[in-house]
Amino acid sequence: MQIITGKAKIAAVLGWPIEHSRSPLLHNFWLQRHQIDGAYIPLAVKAEDFKDVIQTMKAAGFKGCNVTIPHKEAAYQCCDIVDETAKKMGSVNTLWFTEDGKICGTSTDGDGFVANLRDAGITLTNKKILILGAGGAARSVAYSLLQENAQITITNRTLERAEQLVQDLNSGRVIDWQSWTKELGSFDLLVNTTSLGMEGKEDFQFDLQNASKNLVVTDIVYVPRITPLLKAAEQKGLKTVEGLGMLLHQARLGFSKWFGVDPIVDHELTEFVANSL
Ligand code: ATR
Repeated sequence: MQIITGKAKIAAVLGWPIEHSRSPLLHNFWLQRHQIDGAYIPLAVKAEDFKDVIQTMKAAGFKGCNVTIPHKEAAYQCCDIVDETAKKMGSVNTLWFTEDGKICGTSTDGDGFVANLRDAGITLTNKKILILGAGGAARSVAYSLLQENAQITITNRTLERAEQLVQDLNSGRVIDWQSWTKELGSFDLLVNTTSLGMEGKEDFQFDLQNASKNLVVTDIVYVPRITPLLKAAEQKGLKTVEGLGMLLHQARLGFSKWFGVDPIVDHELTEFVANSL
């Protein structure tokens, strides 16, 4: 049993809604594994209350928090100190409070994405990568891939959003949403950052017949754990990387800032969180 004392370090995840978040599960798993006197709690916070809640958390001695939909842009606005990644995203998912009362923030999604691929033995330098989607998740993924010197191509249902993203990143090219499956043969890695294939969302219609046999396929969707895209890729004998690892890896930086231990992502943690999906 984990005991929390008066000296406990407290962090949280803020979202609206928040009940589906897996972050409490994984952070409390790590807290228990490392026998840390601390807790990580879910807070359901409406957009209009967000800034007040952040100030209250700081005043109450919280170490920091994660933020999820719809607060990532508002959280960026709250920060006193941000890094280059956060500036490029215009949003953050991880906040921590300094001893002298400053709010620091960064976006760990992109690093989590790259770390997940690295864990699977995938190298990214000079690789040709096709990104499906041009929303916030695609922005994080694309930015991190560029940091790894990969070559990115973006396709999106709404073409203008893909064009805007390429313009903002100052790198990459855009291909038409109707034709990405035909062009698959020229890519090393396919990444789905759209909500297609997510439980409860629309079906994902696609065709992998033009994929080269060396194509690696990954999805940032992790509910279901094996998405329709990953299942189709597996059936074709392609290497796949599950999205769950990105969730686990993006959580590491916050944990180390708040609780002072750099936690690892391993099989035990992955299966523990997977069992809750
Ligand atoms: P997030 O921040 O999680 O990336 P988002 O900004 O809402 O969320 O982006 C969702 C992505 O999924 C977008 O690329 C979106 O395409 P549009 O820009 O055309 O909206 C994509 N998406 C969602 N539903 C889709 C669908 N039914 N078909 C194709 N793309 C879809």
